[in-house]
Amino acid sequence: MATKEGLKIHEVVKFPDPVLKQPGAPIAVFDDALKTLVAEMFESMYVAQGIGLAAPQIGLSMRLTVIDTSFKKDPKDKLVLINPEIVEVRGKQFEEEGCLSLPEIREKVQRAAWVKVKAQNQRGEWFEVEGEELLARAILHEIDHLNGVLFIDRISRLKRELALRKIRKMQKNGEW
Ligand code: NI
Repeated sequence: MATKEGLKIHEVVKFPDPVLKQPGAPIAVFDDALKTLVAEMFESMYVAQGIGLAAPQIGLSMRLTVIDTSFKKDPKDKLVLINPEIVEVRGKQFEEEGCLSLPEIREKVQRAAWVKVKAQNQRGEWFEVEGEELLARAILHEIDHLNGVLFIDRISRLKRELALRKIRKMQKNGEW
C-alpha cells in the first residue's frame, strides 16, 4: 500500500513479535532516506488511526518515533524524536493507554505528568521538547517502544494476565 505521493504505508507489527522487545539502535545517518522514512511513519500512523508510532512497530529496530497528539488537526503537533533521551520528569498521571501493536487492549498506566526530553530532528540537530498530560504519555509510551518496553509491561500482573488471555483468545479466533 502507498499514498498518492508514493510513500509506503508500513504494516504495524503486533505483539508478540520479538522486534517489539528489542531496544532500537541509535540513528547516526541523517539523509534523505531517513526523511522519507519519517514521512512514511506519519502516513502509516494515520492509516492505523494512531497518535504515536515507533520504528520497532514497523519492524525497524531504530531509535525513531513520530507523534501527533492532535491527529492531523494542528501541524504544529507533529513531533519527530530521533535518539530521544528523557531529561526530566515531574508529577504523576494514571490514564488509559492503547497501542497499535496491541489492538483492543486498553489499560490505565502510571506515567509522569510532565516530561522534558532531548532528541535529534531529521537533520540531526538536537532540540528539547516538553509535554504534559496526553503529550507526556505519548512521548513516554513511544520512548518505551525504543527500549523494547510495552505498556502492558507497566500494568499489574493480574491485568497483564487478563490482557494476555484476551490476546490468546483473539489469536485463536484469527482476530489478531
Ligand atoms: Ni505503542
